[in-house]
Amino acid sequence: MFPALRGLDLAINKGQLISIIGPSGAGKSTLLRLISAFDQPSSGEIWFEGKLVNRFTGKNLLEYRQNVGVMYQDPRDNLIWSLNVLQNIMLPMRYSGKFPWHQKEQAIDLLTHLGLEGKEYRKPSQLSGGEQQRVSIAVALANEPTLLLADEPTGELDSLTTTVIIDYFSMLNQDLGLSILVVTHDKRFAKMTDKTFKIQDGRLTTYHVRSKETPDIDYDEQIVIVDSQGNLRLPHEVMRQFKELKSVKVKINDKRIELIPFHERNRSKEK
Ligand SMILES: Nc1ncnc2c1ncn2[C@@H]1O[C@H](COP(=O)(O)OP(=O)(O)OP(=O)(O)O)[C@@H](O)[C@H]1O
Ligand SMILES: [Mg+2]
Repeated sequence: MFPALRGLDLAINKGQLISIIGPSGAGKSTLLRLISAFDQPSSGEIWFEGKLVNRFTGKNLLEYRQNVGVMYQDPRDNLIWSLNVLQNIMLPMRYSGKFPWHQKEQAIDLLTHLGLEGKEYRKPSQLSGGEQQRVSIAVALANEPTLLLADEPTGELDSLTTTVIIDYFSMLNQDLGLSILVVTHDKRFAKMTDKTFKIQDGRLTTYHVRSKETPDIDYDEQIVIVDSQGNLRLPHEVMRQFKELKSVKVKINDKRIELIPFHERNRSKEK
């Protein structure tokens, strides 16, 4: 068995807009599929508002799926090919108790916000990759969730449409208080989120908290995550700068921990 994620600990507060970045194969989509209860973890726990998601079945699971809107990376996981765009968006609303005319009005409203007017009666196969992605976002938002999980929502989009989506996510978060976890390769997108986590080889390695002073990911301001076993992973930028680094000397200096590059051959000098 291949462990796609290991020792990963992530908490999202209500109302936060969080991004996850990392190389291909790092485990980003796996993490989203686990949080959304699409897949079950072989070990570990997922909690939502004080409840253990892994144990959800039947009614609990249905409620969870209504509270958490998900847009997976592959449109085939989000859309039903035999249904048109409107039907796809209205499908998750079937347990909402809303009248059909209200559901339709809401679906059209979502399409308008996502720049998809006029595509209501198309089938997903008659849409471009970017349009399928945007319909997938509409499906994820259909039940007015409290948490939105979105995997590469702008992966197939041109720069202008990416801006529309970034602004829309920003509005959902700022004005409607929606908590959002977005996986993205887009630096512009990551830049407007509160916190950016980096995931590498199935582990969260560093994160960056955005502030007015440091809107860009500034490598001097990255926070390195230490797991429960004391493991940490030095950022690529550090490894690039210290090419020969094989070990570090750990020095505790009052409340600071210093990592000093250590070379075996210098041992006698160090004594
Ligand atoms: N169904 C599966 N069975 C076995 N291994 C899988 C499966 N899905 C993903 N993996 C493996 O798990 C690891 C993480 O995959 P994942 O799809 O989460 O990566 P990712 O970070 O989303 O990458 P990308 O940026 O390319 O979307 C990869 O090594 C991948 O090959
Ligand atoms: Mg992925």
